[in-house]
Amino acid sequence: MKKLLFLLVIILLASCKAKVNPVEKPGKTLGLTAEEAMVVSARKEASAIGLEVLKNGGNAFDAMIATEMSLAVCYPFAGNLGGGGFMVYRLANGETGTLDYREKAPLEASKTIYQDENGEVISEKSKVGAMAVGVPGTVAGIFAVHERFGSMPMAELLKPVIALAEKGFVVTARQAETLQRYRDIFVEVNQDSILFSKDFAEGDTIKNLSLANTLQRLAENGRDEFYSGPTGEKIVAYLQKHNGIMKMEDLEQYEAQWRKPINVEYKNLNIISMPPPSSGGIVLGQILKMIEDYPIDEYGHNSVKSIQVLTEAERRAYADRSFYLGDPDYVDIPVDSLLSKEYSEWRMKDFSFSGATASSQLDHGVIPGYESMETTHYSIVDQSGNAIAATTTLNGAYGSKLYVSDLGFFVNNEMDDFSAKPGVPNMFGLIGAEANSIAPGKRMLSSMTPTIVEKNGKLWLTLGSPGGSTIITSVLQTILNVEEYNMTMQEAVNAPRFHHQWLPDEILFEPNAFSPDILKSLQDKGYHIDEGESTIIGKVDAIRVLPDGTLEGGADKRGDDTAVGF
Ligand code: GLY
Repeated sequence: MKKLLFLLVIILLASCKAKVNPVEKPGKTLGLTAEEAMVVSARKEASAIGLEVLKNGGNAFDAMIATEMSLAVCYPFAGNLGGGGFMVYRLANGETGTLDYREKAPLEASKTIYQDENGEVISEKSKVGAMAVGVPGTVAGIFAVHERFGSMPMAELLKPVIALAEKGFVVTARQAETLQRYRDIFVEVNQDSILFSKDFAEGDTIKNLSLANTLQRLAENGRDEFYSGPTGEKIVAYLQKHNGIMKMEDLEQYEAQWRKPINVEYKNLNIISMPPPSSGGIVLGQILKMIEDYPIDEYGHNSVKSIQVLTEAERRAYADRSFYLGDPDYVDIPVDSLLSKEYSEWRMKDFSFSGATASSQLDHGVIPGYESMETTHYSIVDQSGNAIAATTTLNGAYGSKLYVSDLGFFVNNEMDDFSAKPGVPNMFGLIGAEANSIAPGKRMLSSMTPTIVEKNGKLWLTLGSPGGSTIITSVLQTILNVEEYNMTMQEAVNAPRFHHQWLPDEILFEPNAFSPDILKSLQDKGYHIDEGESTIIGKVDAIRVLPDGTLEGGADKRGDDTAVGF
């Protein structure tokens, strides 16, 4: 009997120990852990509603719909009905895919609409007001997800979201600060006060009854409510009142597209990411391929040598981005060549640790044959092991600043992601060329990089970030932090980041996060340093699957981001 008791105690102790993640070394800071399912997003309300859907028996796609719409309610800075996005998924059986619900240029748009009679770019025209607005894709996106993968009725998924809009959400300190910053612009652009131009302070509650009504109509009437019904008519009427060019025909023709993901092997990882019209997957893949042969783990995290290797690979990949990438429905993109090992090795041939390559000396490669946090990302893993990574955007903060009061949402300024003129930078400083020029019905190039990573064939990470052009390098560094520097998910997300994008020729560092000695060494080697005073780079929300199957969340400390799970 005593022996049996002893055996039981040993078994009990062993199983308790297994729950404490034996893979983690002492001293590591784990993010929130959960046994079954997890949602990580920019707002606790959105994460909680997504998780509630999972608890009620919904799958990751049901939770995606509820989370995406909840962000539109409580995070109007970037969450949206008037914007677009991308989703990457991996089913529990290993099948992968992506959904492109990116905005499109209206049919009346043309290559030079943002240029004056002298061919000079009128910068504000693609950024603020009705001319900046691309045909929204988010609503088409959630209905496409629902049709293919949804397991619960749309009305049930939208119910808690409508309740949130009716009951209201509490303004955080960060939110109060951004709302204050944009109040006057909202009134100016809308030529009237709007819900969000009121003087909100931290702790206030914002109810959005117009948005609750819009969501209720979507629940009752489906996708057509937005793309050919009264909601669409109201959007078009508002944009036309403000001298826009969007018509009902633009909405009627809009379709979200299922696309094959970009797959890149990096050591024993398989990176599954977004294909064009996002540049995310290709640029991320190119950088990983270019750095693969350098022992950056031995160089050390954020050491001079590892910063050099990443910077030089980023410089080369972003130069290629500017030349080759655009909407794949309009331009041929040499995807396989850009991601090939031979090309990557050739591209890094002229790099030496002795000094920086000048971007002015570097063009896009030849193939044979700053910013802030406007976008938002969320990651979900459900209890069956299905995973999604979704990034959604209005482009700039609150998009074009145009707010359709009757409907309760802002509309995007995504047209600025096109190249208004070759060589002229957009709001992220990105330079484009013919591949990303404007054409009717074309999708503008994006940097959004929702990404899922498999390790040894199994689901390992799901992650993504806002941050315009810095999205790709934020995702890159987060993956490397876990893989090469043995960080937990939370540590990897919190670690200081830097960014280079070919032009401007400078490395952007998060302020006060890198030692002066490191910055000085880089300067001595000819690198231009920009330690942006208040710039944060990316805001990554991620989930990692630990070897024992436990989920670990990484909710970025740079925002109000929250991981929840059960
Ligand atoms: N609007 C930011 C992006 O799509 O890259």
